[in-house]
Amino acid sequence: MSRTSMRRRDFMRFALALGGNALLTQTALAEKLPGESVVGSPKGRIGEFPKGFLWGAATAAYQIEGATHVDGRGESIWDHYVGTPGKIKGSANAAVACDSYRRYAEDVAIAKRLGMQSYRYSIAWPRVQPQGSGIVNQKGLDYYRRLTDALLEDGIRPLPTLYHWDLPQPLEDAGGWPERDTAQRLADYARIVVDALGDRIDQWVIFNEPYIFTVLGYAQGIHAPGRKEPLAALRATHVANLAQGLVYRAIKASRPRAEVGSAYNVAPVVPATASAADRAAAERQDKFGNLWFVYPALKGHYPAGVLPSERQSELLGFRSGDEEIMRAPLDFIGLNYYSCSYVQEDAQALIPGLGTKSFEPKKRVSQEKTDFGWDIYPKGFYDIVTEMAGHTGRIPIEITENGAAYNIGPSADGGVHDAKRIAYARAHLLELSRAIRNGAPVRAYHHWSLLDNFEWSEGYTQRFGLIYVDFENGQKRLPKDSAAWYAKIIAENKVV
Ligand code: FCB
Repeated sequence: MSRTSMRRRDFMRFALALGGNALLTQTALAEKLPGESVVGSPKGRIGEFPKGFLWGAATAAYQIEGATHVDGRGESIWDHYVGTPGKIKGSANAAVACDSYRRYAEDVAIAKRLGMQSYRYSIAWPRVQPQGSGIVNQKGLDYYRRLTDALLEDGIRPLPTLYHWDLPQPLEDAGGWPERDTAQRLADYARIVVDALGDRIDQWVIFNEPYIFTVLGYAQGIHAPGRKEPLAALRATHVANLAQGLVYRAIKASRPRAEVGSAYNVAPVVPATASAADRAAAERQDKFGNLWFVYPALKGHYPAGVLPSERQSELLGFRSGDEEIMRAPLDFIGLNYYSCSYVQEDAQALIPGLGTKSFEPKKRVSQEKTDFGWDIYPKGFYDIVTEMAGHTGRIPIEITENGAAYNIGPSADGGVHDAKRIAYARAHLLELSRAIRNGAPVRAYHHWSLLDNFEWSEGYTQRFGLIYVDFENGQKRLPKDSAAWYAKIIAENKVV
């Protein structure tokens, strides 16, 4: 018997021994046919979660690892971008971040102590292929093997994302995401990772939020690589869709039984005013923001009514046969939810969502905001999960991110009393349970984030963690009140 099958058996034994809130074991998940499961449970009470529901937290490589120059890692577009003056709050960088590259065992131990059953992390492409193509850096793969094994040993399901925004800089130098070749580069990298680690990982997430890295990175210029080229951004969305199909097939070619998903940022779209133009803009944005990367995968075509149909192919760089390349019958759908989005008609922009004009909505859905300034809108979680399930049918859904920034530090008594985060998460979990009761097949929830971390252009100014990280003081970890609260939710499998 191979080392891996031993490992899986140990994992199963561990999971079964837990009883009560039984885990969906790796094997059990893998054996379910897509859409067959899951857990949409009309019987449960609001606030109660179905048996087998998985609880966890999410992180991303660039936001927590640090060690950007260690063990042969190459440069990513984010390393390059943070080096540009004025781009990141406080001129911060991610050279150390949470130092998780060195402290991963401590982080896994924290997740275990909280009772987590799933951990979503990402694999940094520039650690595995420093140039974005060609030579493979074994030390990079070894790091993710160590991390994955630490999770398995603690009975935590590993859920890696292959691309959480850290494109190797050489690929950006060659044109980046608007360049068709980037899709094949991602598929080659995915094959390398899955060949190396697929014996211990049964679920893979292809992308984190393809809308964000294409639109904010290439049209709005507020994320790496910081380009303000709306037409290039549109082509980037198409290349990302091609990549989704190619990566899906690369993973299946290596591991036919692996489950493959992708994680999308979703938000109910609210028109800035009640005018017919703004309402029409909101309808378009719903399709662009929420469905642009889901339809091509599941249906092989783009949602109609976003781009002028007679120009769509030219604008996207769409070639005949691309329908088949983009198709990826995903085994599960990842949804990231934080808030709603507001949209105003923008005659200057090809699609309002590609525009950069700022505006103030006439009426907000809520007067309460997180410290990031995002409207707190728990009902939007119910609405969008229900809406997405309407599009994706019986395909299992995992909440791959949900959380809030509250910049609360240690009090005189040494504790971090983040009651606001607890209130946010509580309200959102109640709405999620309502969506499940209404039939949405949701099988997992990952809180964003395990740790305070490098929040992209916001640097270290927005703290999303269940665990406080003292960035001034050796990256010391300190559990917040929300961590203890979340551990209780996990133990009882219901909102307390
Ligand atoms: C999401 C990103 C994640 C984090 C949260 C706050 O859009 O996927 O990396 O930045 O927002």
